[in-house]
Amino acid sequence: LAASLVLAGCGKMGGALLDGWLSRGMSADDVAVVEPGVESREAAARRLGHGVHAGPEELPADVKPGVVVFAVKPQVMDQVAPAYRRFVAPDAVFLSIAAGKTIAYFTERLGGEAAIVRAMPNTPAAVGRGITVACPNARAGAAHVRRCQELLEAVGEVLWTDDESQLDAVTAVSGSGPAYVFLLAECLAEAGAAAGLPVEMARRLARATVAGAGELLHRAPEEPEVLRRNVTSPGGTTAAALSILMAPDGLRPLLAKAVQAAARRSRELAG
Ligand SMILES: NC(=O)c1ccc[n+]([C@@H]2O[C@H](COP(=O)([O-])OP(=O)(O)OC[C@H]3O[C@@H](n4cnc5c(N)ncnc54)[C@H](OP(=O)(O)O)[C@@H]3O)[C@@H](O)[C@H]2O)c1
Repeated sequence: LAASLVLAGCGKMGGALLDGWLSRGMSADDVAVVEPGVESREAAARRLGHGVHAGPEELPADVKPGVVVFAVKPQVMDQVAPAYRRFVAPDAVFLSIAAGKTIAYFTERLGGEAAIVRAMPNTPAAVGRGITVACPNARAGAAHVRRCQELLEAVGEVLWTDDESQLDAVTAVSGSGPAYVFLLAECLAEAGAAAGLPVEMARRLARATVAGAGELLHRAPEEPEVLRRNVTSPGGTTAAALSILMAPDGLRPLLAKAVQAAARRSRELAG
């Protein structure tokens, strides 16, 4: 049986998607992977139990994929996308997760007939806990959207928008967001060491606190603000710290500025 899905690029994010699909019961025979990197190619071949192609020209002539997933770096997309134009068909959809590559960019390279979904996932996809926002073009019908939803759901939650311009802010919030949280863990560890803890202990406390608070946030139905209030007694230690973090020059305006900078950069990169 010819593969019904072609995955172009099987690095960190492509690999996470592949793991998600296979663990959800997709048959390895349904997936053809194109990946020039030797290590990533060998890792993908081990997962699949069959060969991985070094380039799209190696794909069998009878492959008529229902989905082509682009998971290569934006910098190489100029070489990658046009090579898949031959797969444009009424029931085929192109799903790109490349940051900053717009629907117009793909339309230019794949032609006006191509059904395209542009999506922005984030790194917790590697543990099945990502969140993705996806945007379809006018050619992408309900069946295409459903298919992409299933594929993206394999690594976490999925939201949809018809307004592609929102993807810059999405990139700035959830795409880049995990890095802000990692920085929080770094800063908390450093502050703990400065407050007198052994460095290793401070690191463990910071890591477990960020991860544990994240898990609570994941499981609890309450808004983060409610969870925060629940652990803040008036006049207590948490309140003392929050009076600094919530000062007019505290975390709120800083994060707003950071998110604006990321959104601006995302718009610049998209050209
Ligand atoms: N990681 C994230 O959190 C995240 C979040 C949102 C969106 N994304 C998007 O996801 C995409 C992939 O990111 P990543 O972090 O997974 O990068 P990555 O680990 O570098 O994966 C990209 C893979 O594509 C391979 N590749 C290069 N040229 C290729 C070609 N011509 N055909 C097929 N495969 C090719 C690379 O191989 P080599 O190693 O040999 O170059 C690499 O294994 C990017 O466009 C990024 O914007 C990533």
